[in-house]
Amino acid sequence: MNGRPNIADMDYNMMTTSRDYTKDVQFKFLIIGDFGVGKTAIVRRYVDGRFSSKYKITIGADFALKHITRDETHIKLQIWDIAGNERFGYMTRVYFKYAVAAVVVFDLTRSTTIQSASKWLRDLREKVTLSDGTAVPVVLLANKCDIYNSSLPTDSINKLCKEYRIDAWFATSAKDNVNIDQAFNFLIDRSLQVTNCEPTREGIALDEKSIFNKNIYKNQGCCKIL
Ligand code: GTP
Repeated sequence: MNGRPNIADMDYNMMTTSRDYTKDVQFKFLIIGDFGVGKTAIVRRYVDGRFSSKYKITIGADFALKHITRDETHIKLQIWDIAGNERFGYMTRVYFKYAVAAVVVFDLTRSTTIQSASKWLRDLREKVTLSDGTAVPVVLLANKCDIYNSSLPTDSINKLCKEYRIDAWFATSAKDNVNIDQAFNFLIDRSLQVTNCEPTREGIALDEKSIFNKNIYKNQGCCKIL
C-alpha cells in the first residue's frame, strides 16, 4: 500500500484466526471536535506517549495505528484524526465510513467548543452506525484539564451525554497524560462488546508505516498523503 490508505477501494480485514491469538480484529475509531481542542495531541499521547505544545493544523485527516491485546484478542486499532477546521467542512466526512466508535473532544478553556461538540455529535449520529444499524459507542473528552481552573461544566456535559447517547465522558489532559489511556480502554472494551457478534466488518486497510503527519487531503481536492 506504500503507506497510503486505500481510499478508493476501502477493503477491510477482520480475521478470526491467527498464529498467536484466538481472534484478530481491526477497529476504526474517529476522533472529532473543533480545531485546536487537542485531538492530535490526544492521539499522539495515546499512540506515542509524547506531547508537543506546538499547534500544527490537521489538513483533512491524519491517522495512527496501535496494536492492543485484550485477553486472547489482538486488536489493530486505526485512529482517524479528523480536521476540526471548518475550512475542510464536509469533505472530511468521507472518513467517517466504517468507523465502529468515536472520541468527541472539546476544550475546557473554550466554551464554544462544547457547543460545537453537539454539532459533531449530530453529524456523527446521522452518518455512522454499526452494520446492524445500532449506534456506535462514543466517549466525550473534556480536554486541557491541566489549564482549566473552574469547576467542570457537568450540566452541559450530562445534557450532551443524554441527548447523543454518549457512553462515558472523561476530563483529560494530553499534556499531563490524564485519563487518555482510560478513555481509549473504555472505548475499546465497548467496541469489543458491541461488535462481538459480527463476523466481518467493512473498513479501510492501512499500511503499518502510515502513521501520523500524513495529511491525506491537501488543497481540498487531491487525494494523496504528503
Ligand atoms: P486541528 O488539527 O486544527 O483539528 O486541532 P486539534 O484538535 O488536533 O488540536 P491539537 O492537538 O493540534 O492541539 C492544539 C493545541 O492545544 C496545541 O498547541 C497543543 O499542544 C495544545 N494542547 C492539546 N492538548 C492539550 C492539553 O491537554 N493541555 C494543554 N495545556 N494543551 C494542549
